[in-house]
Amino acid sequence: MGRPCFPKLRLSRLMGSLQLMLGSLVFFLSIASLFKFYQAGFFHNNEEICRHFYQATDACDGYDLRALNDRVGEVLDRMDKLQEKLERIVQEMEKERAVLDRTNITRLEHKRFLEQEVIKPLYAAHISLRQIRMPVAGGIRNTTWKEEPLINTFVVEEIRKYITPRENRVGKINFYGTERIYNTIGHACVMVKKELEEYMDYDVGSFCKDDWNLAQKLMVNGCDPLPRRRCLTRASRVYQRPYPMNESLWKLPDGRNVRWANYQCGNFQCLASKNPKRGYSKCTGCFEMDKEKLKWVTNSSLPVDFLISNVLAIKPGEIRIGLDYGVGTGTFAARMREHNVTIVSTALNLGAPFNELIALRGLIPLYITLNQRLPFFDNTLDLIHTAGFMDGWIDLLLMDFILFDWDRILRPGGLLWIDRFFCKRQDLDDYMYMFLQFRYKKHKWVVYAKSNDEVYFSALLEKPPRAI
Ligand SMILES: *[C@@H]1O[C@H](CO)[C@@H](O)[C@H](O)[C@H]1NC(C)=O
Ligand SMILES: *[C@@H]1O[C@H](CO)[C@@H](O)[C@H](O)[C@H]1NC(C)=O
Ligand SMILES: *[C@@H]1O[C@H](CO)[C@@H](O)[C@H](O)[C@H]1NC(C)=O
Ligand SMILES: *[C@@H]1O[C@H](CO)[C@@H](O)[C@H](O)[C@H]1NC(C)=O
Ligand SMILES: *[C@@H]1O[C@H](CO)[C@@H](O)[C@H](O)[C@H]1NC(C)=O
Repeated sequence: MGRPCFPKLRLSRLMGSLQLMLGSLVFFLSIASLFKFYQAGFFHNNEEICRHFYQATDACDGYDLRALNDRVGEVLDRMDKLQEKLERIVQEMEKERAVLDRTNITRLEHKRFLEQEVIKPLYAAHISLRQIRMPVAGGIRNTTWKEEPLINTFVVEEIRKYITPRENRVGKINFYGTERIYNTIGHACVMVKKELEEYMDYDVGSFCKDDWNLAQKLMVNGCDPLPRRRCLTRASRVYQRPYPMNESLWKLPDGRNVRWANYQCGNFQCLASKNPKRGYSKCTGCFEMDKEKLKWVTNSSLPVDFLISNVLAIKPGEIRIGLDYGVGTGTFAARMREHNVTIVSTALNLGAPFNELIALRGLIPLYITLNQRLPFFDNTLDLIHTAGFMDGWIDLLLMDFILFDWDRILRPGGLLWIDRFFCKRQDLDDYMYMFLQFRYKKHKWVVYAKSNDEVYFSALLEKPPRAI
């Protein structure tokens, strides 16, 4: 035992005493900087620090003391670690005293040691301490908030810049009628703080990391909407011009237009349903255009499959714009386009480049998770189609929120097409109730037994006028 930390280093006694000195300096610094907090009894009672600083009791309302406490704790932690490390090194040197006498350390090694082991952690602690924003006694601006919400929860500077509201430049009210714009991040970001900080840790203006999958992971875990970033997104180095519209709808695009690094597959052919290692599970067969071409236009053996022509015939000429809510490669939108109907298709890149494929087909992918209210205004869409996605896995309350949101954006007389909803037989009544609660007009309503205990359910419903 007793091996020195840096066996190759030849350390002098001078170095030992220098470190001892530095160690005490750091310790002294940390105590001095935090003295205020100690004095305030901060570490015993969160409320008291606020009163201590401001006397006025109301100064503490709306200020995130816990986050502040966390930040201070972080600084202390860094200081502790630094001190521990320096002490350990000195102890080890103490043990090797005899050797120390006879060894030299090069200035370069000395410099490296100071930079890496002392200055860096000291700097980090210093920055953390500086970043702490104390409550503003009178509240910020005309609000009762004592500080920007969540500001002390985050350390990475780019996040803090992002969530600090940006005042309008000329000091006037902008066309939204607000004095400033809030860049928001979903509150659940707090739970994936480490990943979010990794995502926002970049050099402004340089290339982003190839980390769309980290971004998507954050989104699906509730950190949604994600902050915007100020780095350049990467693209395929060999990007080809997309096919013209008369060809792109039904042709697999050029694989070179996609960055494949984060997928199991390296091209579109590999995503075929026959390949067990294709990397995605939902929507098997979606990447095979021969199969896709049959959907919604050929008579299927199952009564739950409606034809587009039959659906559009219910409202001739009335269906112009809509949303396809599901997992897919845009085939529904492609077919509808041929009927001069514009459909936006929701897509997440879950194991395969769904967004890129939809876009390369000349259709509009909407990159959105289940977490979010849909970015459409009330009473605007003619059609919502949902397939292959809303299944029996979904929580009933969540589903309720989603259905009300759909109801919100669907215009009176608009159609809700539930396509092969799939669930356990015993759950069917619950789900049916949810669809029926809106009292839509039933154009089609089909339940079909998939197996002994599972059923398919399809419906075509029309939102009634609401004159209230
Ligand atoms: C240490 O450095 C001094 C002068 O720089 C030199 O005279 C001495 O030989 C060195 N000792 C060892 C062990 O390298
Ligand atoms: C804040 O208060 C000032 C002065 O009292 C007032 O001119 C200004 O309009 C207020 N701003 C807001 C956002 O209420
Ligand atoms: C698509 O249109 C272009 C001109 O607009 C034409 O040259 C090309 O032959 C067409 N492709 C097909 C498959 O029809
Ligand atoms: C589907 O079947 C109906 C009758 O069952 C028939 O009238 C129609 O032409 C068929 N459509 C196609 C595309 O085969
Ligand atoms: C779509 O619009 C084009 C141009 O207006 C028209 O020629 C075509 O017949 C329309 N297609 C359908 C299916 O209505």
